[in-house]
Amino acid sequence: MKIGVDYYPEQWDRALWKADSDLMAKIGVKLVRIGEFAWSKLEPRDGQFDFQWLDEAISTFSRHAIGIVLCTPTSCPPLWMYETYPDIVQVGADGRRIQTGIRGHRCLNAPMFLYYAKRITEQLARRYANNPAIAAWQIDNEIEAYPCTCETCRGLFRDWLIDKYDTLENINAAFGNSVWSGEYSDIAQIKPPTSYPRAWQNPALCLDFARFSSDTAVKFVSDMAQIIKRENPRAKVTTNTFFCENTPDFYKLFSMLDFTSYDNYPPVRISGDDNNPNSHAFELDFMRGLKQRNFWVMEQLSGATGSWAPMGPTPKPGQIKGYAMQAMAHGADTVMHFRWRTANKGAEMFWHGLLDHSNVPSRRFKEFAELCREASKLSVIETTELVSDVAILYSPENDWAFRIQPQTEGFNYLEQLRYFHAAFTRYGTNVDIISPTADLSKYKAVVAPAMYVYDKASAENIYRYVIKGGTLIMTNRSGVKDQCNNCIMEPLPTVYREMIGAEVKEYDPIGNTEQTIADFAGNKFTCRQWCDILEVTTARAYAEYKDSFYAGSAAVTMNRYCSGVTYYVGTICNMDFYESFAGNIMKQTGIPRLKDLPRGVEVTTRTNGLDDYIFFFNNSEEEADITLPKAMYSIIDGGERETLTLKPFGMDIVRK
Ligand code: GLA
Ligand code: ZN
Repeated sequence: MKIGVDYYPEQWDRALWKADSDLMAKIGVKLVRIGEFAWSKLEPRDGQFDFQWLDEAISTFSRHAIGIVLCTPTSCPPLWMYETYPDIVQVGADGRRIQTGIRGHRCLNAPMFLYYAKRITEQLARRYANNPAIAAWQIDNEIEAYPCTCETCRGLFRDWLIDKYDTLENINAAFGNSVWSGEYSDIAQIKPPTSYPRAWQNPALCLDFARFSSDTAVKFVSDMAQIIKRENPRAKVTTNTFFCENTPDFYKLFSMLDFTSYDNYPPVRISGDDNNPNSHAFELDFMRGLKQRNFWVMEQLSGATGSWAPMGPTPKPGQIKGYAMQAMAHGADTVMHFRWRTANKGAEMFWHGLLDHSNVPSRRFKEFAELCREASKLSVIETTELVSDVAILYSPENDWAFRIQPQTEGFNYLEQLRYFHAAFTRYGTNVDIISPTADLSKYKAVVAPAMYVYDKASAENIYRYVIKGGTLIMTNRSGVKDQCNNCIMEPLPTVYREMIGAEVKEYDPIGNTEQTIADFAGNKFTCRQWCDILEVTTARAYAEYKDSFYAGSAAVTMNRYCSGVTYYVGTICNMDFYESFAGNIMKQTGIPRLKDLPRGVEVTTRTNGLDDYIFFFNNSEEEADITLPKAMYSIIDGGERETLTLKPFGMDIVRK
């Protein structure tokens, strides 16, 4: 595994570059990421470029054989550009141009922004794309599907709709504009959603605008990547992403790029609450699933976070190293820490890096140096991957549609995915999080939570999986909407009804009220938020409701369908239900389970086809003891082990 750091040469004196690169080389840093915010230094005036400092910075690091991740700086246009072309700034939902603060204001459709973005990217690519010091390229920084409503975006959105629906009549029909006299009589009347409360806007319009905004982000990133590839087709290009407010279609975003990169800031506080599964194991598996390949962490937690909010607690002993190792356990081959040095100027001076303002190597820095040492001994891992028996399906369309209409108090789409993820991983099995259109045939169990917006390819894929003998788990809020985000006029879960062997007679959005269900063995579990009152046709009840007028009705069902089995979880429960349920599914499908793992211990396996490496990560503040089924060789310190004692946030890796 390679360990790197994020570095900002433009923020420090040259003398410090030299000292920093010496220290990096000494402790074993393999990569630096530079340049993503440095546009005003690279092009101080329109068309006047200065690459000399960057040449120097690159050679300062590459002299030590430290590879460079070079970023395009388009997230921060220089002030001269905003001054000359004020309309490159995004316009908010209220129709007003946003106030510029420090970064990220550009509209990804603004013609003059695009002109300059392409030009600076081209300049960088010409100069550096064939420089052997450049290990990879990052486009921009944390691009979102910004819901910009500027004139250009409005016009392009109209074109996008006409492309999709052909005529104004079709758009009116798709949006259901006969409701509340919303019919367009002229294309110019089409506007993106406004700042009026979400609940009063047209959900069909909102979903199409989310799709359009995502397409904009994807196109921008892929156009910039092409510019670099033109200079060097073998250049490795990525962009760094995160779980943002305006999520792009991550699958599309990375399908255009060579690998996925993720900015990983796991929480420092350990919640201790089983119903709040907050391990970033979920985020890491999610990122690996985007291309179903290993990925990079482009930014990794290094100190107390702050700046965007009051400062949060500093990482506890073990977390700097442990969370980087946890990322590796889930498929990260490179982890870059944000950042080498804490800024002492600018808005982000309290988002801590590895070196504090004091400039004295701290506890965290020493732990980071230890990580570099250990990582350099783990090269056998680099050729390994995770192979999983379980998949959970994530759909960007469902994610958007639930943000547009959150269903009921407390309802959260990603939370349902998290519960299933936490439940299966609790037994030490690998879990993939993948697209509903991905090949499912290799999985022993597939969870398809809340398949809300109908998509033909996804539905067919899911049916195919079950017909051929798969075990599928579906949940509440499936088959609810058509492609336009309008409700389907059929009993729920509509298209999935036949496979489920049950029908939703009525539903009860109970929000944060708690009720009880009991499974076939009499175990009782708390449920909340949503209750689908199910009537079985060919299915059998797995669990039934104990309260309200639907006491005795099925809450969870199991149905044999063709060669497969389909479960339907009509409600949302606490973790104890999901753990028990996942345990049963694993038993039924023959997925090996590690029982009695101490709370907080996470187990994943990476394989190269010959050797399996099992990662034991203690994501807790208590020491954990584990007894292995047989003696195994630890690749961390090279000894045979029958038991492992893991310190808080400690990791051991054994060869099976
Ligand atoms: C994001 C950004 C970084 C930095 C960190 C910390 O991940 O990409 O530039 O701002 O957050 O706030
Ligand atoms: Zn715009």
